[in-house]
Amino acid sequence: MKAHCNTSLKPFHTFGLDVHAKEIIAAQSTEDFLAFWRDDAYKMLPKLIVGEGSNLLFCQDFEGLVVLNRLKGISVSETDTHWHLHVAGGENWHELVRWTVEQNMPGLENLALIPGLVGSAPIQNIGAYGVELNDRCEYVDVLHLDTGNIQRLSAHECAFGYRDSIFKQSLKNGYVIVAVGLQLAKAWEPVLGYGALSDLAMQNVVCAQAIFNKVCEIRRAKLPDPYLLGNAGSFFKNPVVVASLGNKIKEEYPDMPAYPAGDHQMKLAAGWLIEKAGLKGHKLGGAAVHDKQALVLINAGNASAQDVVQLAKHVVETVYQSFGVELEHEVRFIGATEETSLEAICLR
Ligand code: FAD
Ligand code: EPU
Repeated sequence: MKAHCNTSLKPFHTFGLDVHAKEIIAAQSTEDFLAFWRDDAYKMLPKLIVGEGSNLLFCQDFEGLVVLNRLKGISVSETDTHWHLHVAGGENWHELVRWTVEQNMPGLENLALIPGLVGSAPIQNIGAYGVELNDRCEYVDVLHLDTGNIQRLSAHECAFGYRDSIFKQSLKNGYVIVAVGLQLAKAWEPVLGYGALSDLAMQNVVCAQAIFNKVCEIRRAKLPDPYLLGNAGSFFKNPVVVASLGNKIKEEYPDMPAYPAGDHQMKLAAGWLIEKAGLKGHKLGGAAVHDKQALVLINAGNASAQDVVQLAKHVVETVYQSFGVELEHEVRFIGATEETSLEAICLR
């Protein structure tokens, strides 16, 4: 186990805000995690597990212990039909994707360049370019911090949904994801249905490396590199609305992107709504709506947490006034002692 003397959270989250924790510790084994939870010195402190902090907004200083997941190791086995990967939670997601493609174990290429760790990937069921984690996930191993038991949840038990899983619902606290099992079919089929991959769909033969390269190229063109410009990816989820509301907006804006989402529902593109509401590039203090992808809020330079919170509030209110659509933030808001939300902060 390794303690960080400096308690600045700046290097440990991708928004790059100047916030602090009481203490920051790296856990390199499941024993480390249990030790921190049982140590008298930390017993009374609030605790937060952090991967790479790429889906977090620290709304103020965290008055507790931040535990960085640094569990490492990958093992592979195979059957006639699949490769089965058992990956420790502290491995970097993108490096895993790159490595599997290089090893001719395709299947994860559409999920290239998503920041963060493997152990965080099931929490919001990461997804991009037509593939979600749940399409490749076999199981998730969780360490229960009160008992020390490790429980294996099947993908079905994880209750994956769009940016959702059991880990955002009933299994939100008191556990750590220590490993993820992935299964990659040897009979590989490219997934090219997402509009931006249509160039590749025209070609007769497509390999996983070409999809990996294309996804990286598109993402680099649109999304700000968090090491250069602080951000946490899409700040809001794409909203699912009743079809009557979606159709009403579409009558006025026939070019609006919209996708069927179950019975009498439609999924809309939050980035499009924010742009059409006139907010692309909008600045508030040091925070701004990204000028290439309006769904991303950025730290344009020395933003305070309050700047980002106020900008998020302004975006939600303006989109609601313009279209009657309520946006819900995807980014996890962290308060002084526990998770909070934009709604909770604004009601205070
Ligand atoms: P963190 O931000 O550190 O943690 C996220 C949450 O999980 C926190 O609540 C934390 O307490 C909890 N947590 C972390 N690890 C564990 C653990 N082992 N056990 C229990 N709880 C834990 N997401 C997508 O789905 N698709 C995208 O295309 C995408 N693109 C992005 C692009 C950019 C530029 C950025 C900055 C982010 C993007 N994201 C995307 C969001 C982000 O990459 C994912 O949510 C990622 O899985 C977060 O991983 P992390 O390790 O940084 O998690
Ligand atoms: N759009 C605009 N203006 C914008 C942004 C988008 O008009 O400023 C339009 C696009 O033209 C397109 C539609 O909105 O018609 C969708 O845009 P895009 O393909 O860029 O995807 P997105 O819906 O903005 C989602 C995910 C991303 C994921 C991409 C690719 C969510 C909340 N976001 O973004 O995930 O990488 O699709 O699959 O579902 C993340 O979760 O952090 C993330 C980056």
